Amino acid sequence: MPRAIFNFPSGFLWGTATAAHQVEGNNLNNDWWAWEQGEGNIRNGDKSGKACDWWAGRRWREDFDRASETFQNAHRLSVEWSRVQPEPDRWDETALDRYREMLLGLKERGMIAMLTLHHFSNPQWLMEMGGWENDEAVTLFGAFVRRAVQALAPHCNLWVTINEPNVYATGAYLGGGFPPGRNDMKAALKVLSNLVKAHALAYQVIHEIQPNAQVGVAHHWRGFIAGDWNPLTRQAVRLYDQVFNNSFAQALQTGRFDARMLREAIPQAKGTQDFIGLNYYTRETIRFDLTRSKDMYTRRFFRKDLELSEGGFLANDPEGFKQCIEWGNRFGLPIYITENGAEDSKDDFRRKYLVEHVHQMWHMVNFNFPIKGYFHWSLVDNFEWERGWTQRFGLWGLNEETQARVRRPSVDLYAEICRANALSSEMVEKWASAALNRIMPV
Ligand code: FCB
Repeated sequence: MPRAIFNFPSGFLWGTATAAHQVEGNNLNNDWWAWEQGEGNIRNGDKSGKACDWWAGRRWREDFDRASETFQNAHRLSVEWSRVQPEPDRWDETALDRYREMLLGLKERGMIAMLTLHHFSNPQWLMEMGGWENDEAVTLFGAFVRRAVQALAPHCNLWVTINEPNVYATGAYLGGGFPPGRNDMKAALKVLSNLVKAHALAYQVIHEIQPNAQVGVAHHWRGFIAGDWNPLTRQAVRLYDQVFNNSFAQALQTGRFDARMLREAIPQAKGTQDFIGLNYYTRETIRFDLTRSKDMYTRRFFRKDLELSEGGFLANDPEGFKQCIEWGNRFGLPIYITENGAEDSKDDFRRKYLVEHVHQMWHMVNFNFPIKGYFHWSLVDNFEWERGWTQRFGLWGLNEETQARVRRPSVDLYAEICRANALSSEMVEKWASAALNRIMPV
């Protein structure tokens, strides 16, 4: 067997990503907390509770230690709007102090911070005003961004305005199990277009405060593959691709929002990205199916030859990662992989998934795709939205009752990658030998 070292460029960022509501705990004032109290909204009736106890117990300190001791040099985290602005006319400076502390904590550990300003959760007061369907949400978000960035800019210049606007809009307004639990295409597209406007405003506000800021969006790109030759299947693939994958990012490039059933000129959005953030998990196959009116007449599934994660939530499909990066490269901007990872309490699937995706990324870097960093989802198991605690995405496991962290083998695999700024055939052999023949030429 030949040996190989797949090196990454110097200065490459290696980290993990987290989101406020998923790790902080006791976010009493947002829409997710309210949603968790409702029966049947979260799998098993799970609640975020203390989550990873980053807020009350300040356990971000020990988790950042874990990250830095295992050679991660960056971390992506998010700010919880409802903490900074608990009521429409009240700002909580002590909350901003806490985030400042976290950013300083990263700096002290020699880690670069990437800060997300909206990661799915919203202040409950905003939802009572109609949430993102209400056009006022755009200016309200702009005001929050101004406060947050004024306070935190001295310690951060990499900003993600909005995490996965497409997942948020469909999750919350197209039956995806997020609050407010609506199922209304018109509302979903209206929300998506308001998120374009909110991003554009945030971009402008951030640059006004910090001219050298790097501002982007964490785009969730999902591959849709036609599962048969039915022309209606092809049409469905094109529709999904345009509405889900393209419409948001295109609007930020051209100033024109085209979600087929809603088209709108949003000129202020044109040219409002300094980098492209890519969240890639999987691709899926689609077939037109007349019996499934609820699911836009489609059936979606994973290809039979792909290995599925523990709960069947995603497939190990690094070929899709290549497509995702090619898609991101259309915009001619630097690229960060803002999320990529797998649910796996047994930490067997994850190791294969990790090495195969890092290997795919290396391949793309060597064809000069301008990838600047990779953030694995996630550092430690955390509250997985409507899936509660049933999915385990952490390099470290978590016992949410005792708050004990469990070091999974992936921690050490990822540490070796981060330390070497490379993946090697020896690492693959040691940690994920089943993936060796997919990575090495024989
Ligand atoms: C992404 C979300 C992130 C996490 C992962 C598993 O869609 O951005 O918060 O839930 O999926």
